[in-house]
Amino acid sequence: MLSYKDMDQTQLETTLVELKSNYKKFKDQNLNLNMARGKPSCDQMDMTEDFLFKVIEETEKLESKDGTDCRNYGILEGLPEMREIFSEMMEIDSDKILALGNSSLELMFNVISYSMTQLRPGATKPWYEIKDRKFLCPVPGYDRHFAVTEHFGFELVPVQMTENGPDMDEVERLCAADDSIKGIWCVPKYSNPDGYVYDEETTRRLAKMKAADDFLIMWDNTYCVHHLYDDPAKQGHLLDIMALSEEAGYPDRVLVFASTSKMTFANAGIGAIAGSKSNIDWYLSNLKFQTIGPDKMSQLFQAQLIKKAGGVKELMKRHATILRPKFELVLDVLQEELGEFNIADWHKPLGGYFISVNLQPGTAKQVVAMCKDAGVILTGAGATYPYNKDPHDSNIRIAPSYPTIKELETAIRVFCTCAKIAAVENYLSQ
Ligand SMILES: Cc1ncc(COP(=O)(O)O)c(C=O)c1O
Repeated sequence: MLSYKDMDQTQLETTLVELKSNYKKFKDQNLNLNMARGKPSCDQMDMTEDFLFKVIEETEKLESKDGTDCRNYGILEGLPEMREIFSEMMEIDSDKILALGNSSLELMFNVISYSMTQLRPGATKPWYEIKDRKFLCPVPGYDRHFAVTEHFGFELVPVQMTENGPDMDEVERLCAADDSIKGIWCVPKYSNPDGYVYDEETTRRLAKMKAADDFLIMWDNTYCVHHLYDDPAKQGHLLDIMALSEEAGYPDRVLVFASTSKMTFANAGIGAIAGSKSNIDWYLSNLKFQTIGPDKMSQLFQAQLIKKAGGVKELMKRHATILRPKFELVLDVLQEELGEFNIADWHKPLGGYFISVNLQPGTAKQVVAMCKDAGVILTGAGATYPYNKDPHDSNIRIAPSYPTIKELETAIRVFCTCAKIAAVENYLSQ
């Protein structure tokens, strides 16, 4: 098959007619499919629900392992059994971890919010006093991260992602020159949306680079145990950034986040934050004004549920058996439909919740709109960039987790058809 760029005008026109006829067939099906957000599927949640019901049936006392009565107030730092589960997941000692509410994003929001008015370790001014405050945003990245710092008046500075993490030459150059850069968003394992894993060099450089005294690495390790494959050689592995920063003389540079949202129930899981002793004390010194303690009943049931499922690894293996075929299907169809035409590229993630596709520059918005017209909802074009502005109008995030396999196959074929139409029209217009 000829690549589109090698076709002459007549060949392109004939191809376009065929593609538009396929597109019309999809439209005529009145589809209603959604690949927009990384939500666990009903199958995943049904599986978890079964474990929860068993746990509830078998529970005789609402008491944690240290004897805490979970029905009552207290234990600001979270139940010990939940902190131990996070310790296994995050590979951080449990005394450096707080197990808190139903969302890690909320904890990230709190960190930025507290830092606006309260001095974080290392800071000499609260951030509201830094009028030209900035935050580094590796792109493509997670829209909700960017939105938090935008909400607090930071200028969002994009830095290009590579398959080893953010472009570190650029990160070091920017941070060394400007103390008003107060931090960086990182999804170090199975990044949202590319699925990249930060390599050792990137992690070491982040830990030791020159930056503002109160520079903060928001190490959102939300996909720490969300592997698609069981074989450790096919899993992402990270260095311990907290230990590396401490060695480099910056013990308070990093806060680490994770949650059980995509292990138990989304928005009804448990969020966790980890950091140096001073960072954790600082977080608690703010949190104590906000709440008397987290929802310990939920923590108790979730800890028992994870145990009932055979522990973190077993539970995540079960999720992977549902997710892996979906990822593989999307990757196979992308290759089959787009591979030979050289009009898109994508990475094959080994975990996480997303596949990120880079289309021909200038076509992403058109493809999202055409998919929508055919009843397939994708994440908005531009959403993976600060201020929703993808300078190349090229990146699209695909979330394969929620639809059934059958729905997913149709949805991804619609996507590929739209990508091809946009590419052919692009060549015809040149
Ligand atoms: C990178 C990343 N961080 C955080 C979250 C949200 O986590 P939580 O449910 O714990 O708030 C998501 C959800 O998709 C995510 O992709």
